[in-house]
Amino acid sequence: MSLPKPELRRRYDLTASAYDRRYEEIQKKKYNIVAENLPRLRRVLDLGCGTGMLFRLLSERADFVVGIDLSREMLRLAKLKANERVALVQADADSLPFVDESFDAVVSMTMLQNVPDPAVTLKEIARVLRKGGLAIITSLKHRHSADQLMNWATGASLKPLKAWEITDDEDVACIALKVR
Ligand SMILES: C[S@@+](CC[C@H](N)C(=O)[O-])C[C@H]1O[C@@H](n2cnc3c(N)ncnc32)[C@H](O)[C@@H]1O
Repeated sequence: MSLPKPELRRRYDLTASAYDRRYEEIQKKKYNIVAENLPRLRRVLDLGCGTGMLFRLLSERADFVVGIDLSREMLRLAKLKANERVALVQADADSLPFVDESFDAVVSMTMLQNVPDPAVTLKEIARVLRKGGLAIITSLKHRHSADQLMNWATGASLKPLKAWEITDDEDVACIALKVR
């Protein structure tokens, strides 16, 4: 069971200032998945962007990056890492303030374990992806399995290309394509 969203937001707000110190090394290892699989493109959404540790890499690959997060404090810190091609929005991953097919890729690192129903979140990811767009998603192993990620992607009409347990890491990952 995930925490109710207001409580989750409160917790991330309270712990935001310690986030990079605690998780930088752990998260940065996971970003190899993005480095290895994200092509050069125009618009990318960083869903649950946290303090923006992924912005530098995303900015190297995309013309325009949007970071979404529930937590105002995480976003305040993310702003310090954002350049002029990164926009930040406080919003819920389950109800995104974007029209259909707004993005060429959606990247979501270690966010999905927080949502009440990942099937809903995956459908929202699929909605904002353009046809041919790529989703790169990870979640915590102790909450979700690679098979679950693959099933949620399939249920959202995405085509999973790969779903796996990241070796020596706390996350599972799935890469999926929007084919229709
Ligand atoms: C474990 S952190 C990961 C942050 C970042 N992706 C990283 O790689 O460091 C999870 C983030 O997801 C955000 N989050 C959780 N539930 C969310 C939701 N429903 N919508 C948007 N952001 C959410 C949290 O506020 C937090 O910043």
